[in-house]
Amino acid sequence: MCEMDTVLWILTGLLVLFIIVSLVWRWQSEKRAIPCPSWLSWMLEPENPFSPANHARNIIAWLQLQPGMSVLDAGCGPGRLTLPVAEKVGKNGRVLALDLQEGMLQRTQSRAQAAGLNNVILMQGNLGEGNLPLQQFDRAVLVTVLGEIPDQVSALLEIYAALKPDGILSITETIFDPHFQTREKVVKLANLAGFWEVAFFGKPLAYTMQLAKPNA
Ligand SMILES: C[S@@+](CC[C@H](N)C(=O)[O-])C[C@H]1O[C@@H](n2cnc3c(N)ncnc32)[C@H](O)[C@@H]1O
Repeated sequence: MCEMDTVLWILTGLLVLFIIVSLVWRWQSEKRAIPCPSWLSWMLEPENPFSPANHARNIIAWLQLQPGMSVLDAGCGPGRLTLPVAEKVGKNGRVLALDLQEGMLQRTQSRAQAAGLNNVILMQGNLGEGNLPLQQFDRAVLVTVLGEIPDQVSALLEIYAALKPDGILSITETIFDPHFQTREKVVKLANLAGFWEVAFFGKPLAYTMQLAKPNA
């Protein structure tokens, strides 16, 4: 067998392994929430060319951030969104980076320090338990997180309460995530929490949706 054949066999093997792991993870996730472990955080970084609605720069551009805004990055992971959002809102703005896992927050913190960003606040916690401050945020982002949360309505209610009136929640989902949530399901859950869909970007299998908290 020539060297080229060996390389092709190895690549095919790795691809098959990846597909099997993804399918098992997706199947198990339907029974109980399995958060993406922090040692796998490197997998979140490369931006999938088939899923532009998941790219940090697009999500951020659609959010129309202004200097001085307060933003909640719920389920921040290694800070893929946190850092560019913190740059956009500037020194008079702030980003609260919330995550369940200490390892993810440590990565976000060291990257924020390396970038000289002093407007990132870290918080370890379980979204849905009511630990967020009330009516503090202009924007909230929930990027490939919702499917990992067991009590999704409580999580969305907590974000709703944490947003200022007229605040916007941006939810991103992609089929490449084992915890993918359909648009229909997200709209239903969001409506239960009091949100209304105001914008939709991308395609049914890879999208970003914006939901507004009405100014009652
Ligand atoms: C797939 S990662 C996405 C990270 C980041 N949003 C991104 O797009 O790069 C999901 C993250 O949500 C966090 N997470 C899951 N359930 C959570 C919960 N109930 N409260 C807070 N964070 C949670 C996980 O620890 C993980 O870091």
